[in-house]
Amino acid sequence: MASGYYKYDKIAQVIAALVPTNQKIIEIGVGTGLVLEKLLEINPQYDLTGMDHTKAMLDIAEKRLGDRVKLFEADIISMSIPERFDVAISNGGLCAFVDVGGEYDFYTHLIDYESNLQALKNIANCLNQGGLFLINIQSVHNNYETSLPGEIVYSQEIFESTKNQDCIEKAFYFKKDERIYAQQRLTYRIVRQEAIDELFKLAGFKLQGKDETKQFFIYSKK
Ligand SMILES: C[S@@+](CC[C@H](N)C(=O)[O-])C[C@H]1O[C@@H](n2cnc3c(N)ncnc32)[C@H](O)[C@@H]1O
Repeated sequence: MASGYYKYDKIAQVIAALVPTNQKIIEIGVGTGLVLEKLLEINPQYDLTGMDHTKAMLDIAEKRLGDRVKLFEADIISMSIPERFDVAISNGGLCAFVDVGGEYDFYTHLIDYESNLQALKNIANCLNQGGLFLINIQSVHNNYETSLPGEIVYSQEIFESTKNQDCIEKAFYFKKDERIYAQQRLTYRIVRQEAIDELFKLAGFKLQGKDETKQFFIYSKK
């Protein structure tokens, strides 16, 4: 993730330009904490929380961030917390937008529509009235290979899903000397324009637009 998949410095700069330091931020699908780490480098005063359903990722985030950030384990589909935030962020966490030549598709880790609606409602529920939900915009998933430190080669391959015509599958591998050390195959659901509008409206969000660098879609809680 830190070897070019996302440009974390730029991502944090855009967030910092949009969000004043006195606002409370939650990152949905915080992973290993790379976004929040960069935000703290810009300003250590940020009040940050990260959630994720993968304990192994949270363990790495905790090592990276210590007590500078609050972290908790939850699945966004069932997350229900009393705390309220001013801003929620998904940087490839639950979801991302993908730029398909000036149009934007919504890619989500949750396959069925109802789960996506529930997840977005849960995000709206943990925001204050008027709170923002920032969702990153990334380029199209494609096949590629890149070298990582330690002579490890990362490669990813995209397939049409055999399970669902609205999904793609991404297989990725970490290899050294042609031996596979780790691999995973993920399914992404793709939601397109009118269905995106409907989904966010039903979940209680209003589209505000994109930030000026076009790295994030900005929604606000109605
Ligand atoms: C591509 S990683 C992005 C991590 C981080 N946002 C970053 O930019 O480095 C996606 C993360 O979302 C988490 N995730 C996926 N589905 C989730 C769900 N239903 N509930 C909570 N976390 C989820 C995964 O465990 C993973 O850590």
